[in-house]
Amino acid sequence: MFTVIVKIHPDFSCHFTRLIMYSGILLVFTCYVVAVTAQAPPFKETCVHGSYPPSKSRDVPEYTINLDDPPSQRWNKVASDKRNEMRNILEAFKSFISEFGEFASAVIYYIDLLGPGIIDIIPQPYQDELKGISNVTGIELGEVILYNIFYEIFTVCTSVIAENTAGELYHARNLDFGLFMGWDVKNRTWSITEKLRPAIVNIKWMKNGKLLYKSVNYVGYVGILTGISPGRFTLSMNERFNIDGGYLGLIELLFTGKGTWMSFLTRDTMEQAESFNEALNMLTSKQLIAPAYFILGGNKTKQGCVITRSREVNGTDIWYMSDKSAGGWYVLETNYDHWKAPLFLDDRRTPANICMKNMKQKGVGIPGIFDVLSSKPVLNKLTTYTAIMQVNSGHLETWLQYCEDPCAPW
Ligand SMILES: *[C@@H]1O[C@H](CO)[C@@H](O)[C@H](O)[C@H]1NC(C)=O
Ligand SMILES: *[C@@H]1O[C@H](CO)[C@@H](O)[C@H](O)[C@H]1NC(C)=O
Ligand SMILES: *[C@@H]1O[C@H](CO)[C@@H](O)[C@H](O)[C@H]1NC(C)=O
Ligand SMILES: *[C@@H]1O[C@H](CO)[C@@H](O)[C@H](O)[C@H]1NC(C)=O
Repeated sequence: MFTVIVKIHPDFSCHFTRLIMYSGILLVFTCYVVAVTAQAPPFKETCVHGSYPPSKSRDVPEYTINLDDPPSQRWNKVASDKRNEMRNILEAFKSFISEFGEFASAVIYYIDLLGPGIIDIIPQPYQDELKGISNVTGIELGEVILYNIFYEIFTVCTSVIAENTAGELYHARNLDFGLFMGWDVKNRTWSITEKLRPAIVNIKWMKNGKLLYKSVNYVGYVGILTGISPGRFTLSMNERFNIDGGYLGLIELLFTGKGTWMSFLTRDTMEQAESFNEALNMLTSKQLIAPAYFILGGNKTKQGCVITRSREVNGTDIWYMSDKSAGGWYVLETNYDHWKAPLFLDDRRTPANICMKNMKQKGVGIPGIFDVLSSKPVLNKLTTYTAIMQVNSGHLETWLQYCEDPCAPW
């Protein structure tokens, strides 16, 4: 274990301590803000209007994954099409790591070396899927595993479920990714975030010749961060930062085999749950390797909630949209427990709530929600995409997001 202090761009004059922990086999980062030496960045939130529809160039491609195919071959088409995009992400990640010196580079070396040895910690069928992706892209298995781990750790997001006046639910999310991973001073962007956008795809998951569910994925990542089971439920996952965070869970997983990967739990839920209640039950009954927020919407009025999970099943909090402290007609989650104030440095919750209230229930629909999620700093330099789902129609649409200056780094 070692600690480094890194100076981010002086505009933001923040010092971060980065605690890098190498658990013997797996590399995991956890980032912790230690001190802020300057005032918050100089911009104010305003709710944008009329941002929908965005230009066609911000659309993402759609692929089909057939669950009846053997796991090792399911990803062949999409992974071979997006091989270079995956490589670019890993290159950016490695160059970010190499800034931490030779020790960090050595970690990557060991990950490549040990990949085939640690694949057993990945449950089936995901294990075979990762082997297949490694095979078709030529990327070392250890790096494909790493690629699937780091999304469990660096995801900062905003998710919202809102009900229109007809009682129909819309579920939307911004996926912000790449925090602390290489600020590009010249371009004022996060290097990993920039590389991620070209790897975003919509996926239709088929089984027995029928559409089972849809999701938005970074190619190569086999879990689910955003998904819709048409007519039944919608689901998104947001990171929950916690001292008892991912790396402790990973260590426990390695030594005791206890704990479920969040993104595999969400995928199992998409594949197995046939209703909101079944999904809720699955998401609240397994020990996880890291804490998380699951945002779950059903198919009827008021069926929207935020599930705040610790690693243990004990202590799970379920917050419904009908709750007074939620919006009544909506429920919104960023990366902080709803009963606590957000970190003052990273308050996307207050502006998002202001824009939701400004839109009002009668404004609920794709354009209105897209406006809310396109308002800064809900939209920030980490935002890679906005996805919007409507459960009854089974509709999912995804738009790449970019944040023009002045724009908050997170
Ligand atoms: C890797 O791909 C080759 C052909 O592209 C195939 O023959 C081989 O069985 C695959 N290996 C695995 C482990 O899937
Ligand atoms: C910075 O932006 C310019 C222009 O958009 C682009 O050509 C260049 O590749 C970017 N640099 C990096 C490191 O992303
Ligand atoms: C809602 O989901 C339940 C469980 O899957 C299903 O029985 C019911 O028909 C659905 N209702 C609508 C309106 O789709
Ligand atoms: C769960 O929480 C209850 C009440 O806080 C406590 O009594 C119980 O021991 C906990 N169970 C486990 C398995 O931690």
